[in-house]
Amino acid sequence: MAESMKGLRRTHRCGELSAANIGEQVTVMGWVQKQRNKGGIIFVDLRDRAGILQVIFEEADCGAEHFAKAERLRSEFVAAVTGRVEKRAGAVNANLATGEIEIRAESLRILSEAETPPFPVEENSRTKEELRLKYRYLDLRRPDLQRNLMLRSRMTAAVHAFLEEEGFLEVETPILNKSTPEGARDYLVPSRIHQGCFYALPQSPQIFKQLLMCSGYDRYFQIARCFRDEDLRADRQPEFTQIDLEMSFVDQEDVLDVTERMVAKVCKETVGLEVPLPLKRMTWDEAMNRFGSDKPDTRFSMELTDVSETVKGCGFGVFTGALEAGGSVRGINVKGQAEMPRKKIDALVEFAKGYGVKGLAYLAVLPDGSYKSSFAKFMTEEELKELVAAMAGEPGDLLLFAADKLKLVWSVLGALRVELARQLGMLDPNQYNFLWVTEFPQFEWSDEEERYVAMHHPFTMPMEEDLEILESDPGKVRAKAYDIVVNGMELGGGSVRIFQDDIQERMFQALGFTKEQAHEQFGFLIDAFKYGVPPHAGLAIGLERFVMLLAQTDNIRDVIAFPKIKDASCLMSEAPGTVDAKQLEELHLQVAE
Ligand code: AMO
Ligand code: AMP
Repeated sequence: MAESMKGLRRTHRCGELSAANIGEQVTVMGWVQKQRNKGGIIFVDLRDRAGILQVIFEEADCGAEHFAKAERLRSEFVAAVTGRVEKRAGAVNANLATGEIEIRAESLRILSEAETPPFPVEENSRTKEELRLKYRYLDLRRPDLQRNLMLRSRMTAAVHAFLEEEGFLEVETPILNKSTPEGARDYLVPSRIHQGCFYALPQSPQIFKQLLMCSGYDRYFQIARCFRDEDLRADRQPEFTQIDLEMSFVDQEDVLDVTERMVAKVCKETVGLEVPLPLKRMTWDEAMNRFGSDKPDTRFSMELTDVSETVKGCGFGVFTGALEAGGSVRGINVKGQAEMPRKKIDALVEFAKGYGVKGLAYLAVLPDGSYKSSFAKFMTEEELKELVAAMAGEPGDLLLFAADKLKLVWSVLGALRVELARQLGMLDPNQYNFLWVTEFPQFEWSDEEERYVAMHHPFTMPMEEDLEILESDPGKVRAKAYDIVVNGMELGGGSVRIFQDDIQERMFQALGFTKEQAHEQFGFLIDAFKYGVPPHAGLAIGLERFVMLLAQTDNIRDVIAFPKIKDASCLMSEAPGTVDAKQLEELHLQVAE
């Protein structure tokens, strides 16, 4: 039987009380974490989003009726307790913020009873994630998830405050749209009124924020929900949130400056993390050549070395074959790991093959100076010596090499160095290496479409000094595009936009759009630019990734209240679901068998 709230008012959250409140009469409300009946005395741990508080019931203080109610309390019952704050009689619990105090109960109301939950509501749950996601409303009671969502809320509040201060306006943009240019698959919504037509959910507010610049809104931001139908990974969800911004009358420097000050401020105000400014910068070329990645984790070195020149004339066919085919041979030096067991090396080779190379060649420089290697037999002593020297190899080092097309070599070794650092415990979770990666290539060759595609999107401005090779050597054109990267994760990205129609036209041409196709897709933006467009630039930060970083979790679901799983379904609501025939009919849809 549930009691009412009549005449009752909460004075504090459980976790807000401390020794400073000793002697006060308080009323707290929350969920029963645990009840222990020791005969004449009952201990109850009461939990709310602020923390856990110990309550003591003795008949002498609360009377027989309330004591009897306390005897009935079970885990997850919802209760209200009025009583006096006292210094804890028993041992002080240093694990609890409220560990020095307890409440001596004078009255109790049971506001709601609870069935035995399918898993215990506790910090660091060992319950399988599937079960927790099915009962997400219970999972969300756990202190770790509550902390993450409270952090997320503080972070968006800090973003709002900062951007407001900097003169940004928050403007909402539509969710029901035509297709946007981010390049993932769209989520579509069928139109009832327009038979055969579909809205696309926004992959980002990109076009609208550029239109807002045309309309004079100068500095825009939005905590924007975005939708992308792509394969999910640990840091990707089908719907996610961007801190999206756009600015007029600016160049790249202005965007980087505002963004890094915003990131630093949010880090400082929410978790006390100092981010030294200005952030380091690295061109895309440098990032790829040194780290094999456009989102380098710079917390450790193990950088890539190009040994193509060194092995050019050697006897190992895998290396020379790759070079003759126009590829590259590069390696990493895993310091001190020469004696890594064969089994572990084999696992690394398999890991590398997962990225599409045919193999991974290794050379261990043993402490006595001799070699253990998968390819030493194909090389002369002199060639090996040169190779080891090129890699700055010393006795005790393990050298790993990939030979293939440069793009593949980068991606394999880039992933391998991070995997090795993880295995070897070289990743310090308390170190935050933020940096800007700049000068991204404008285009990326798509084997699938047999044409150049925009690496960022078709409105990204090429670097002025590369405009003259836009037609003659598109692969070499660099863009005024930038990513903010931290510890091997792409936190956000953006670009300076094209605002001159002649450049935009050349861009569409380079991307293989006819005028008609461009107009079909982005007509209203192109039209808007005819009526006076300011130079503008912007960027978007992935909010979930930002929260993951400060919450120190590598699972994006830990920072979203109601996330989807890998197959884009929700285990709790069971979305997506089928709909009835009438709805389909109204939408002029038929489901193919
Ligand atoms: P971009 O596509 O790089 O740029 O996205 C910006 C940031 O959004 C985050 N993000 C995601 N987070 C979770 N799940 C996903 N599926 C997902 N996809 C992207 C990333 C990424 O860095 N309109 C441009 C920005 C601009 O040019 O202003 C854009 O959307 O953290
Ligand atoms: P094989 O002669 O094919 O047995 O290869 C000899 C060694 O070269 C093995 O250790 C392979 O894993 C390695 N290897 C094969 N292909 C490549 C490649 N593309 N890059 C680097 N090493 C490779």
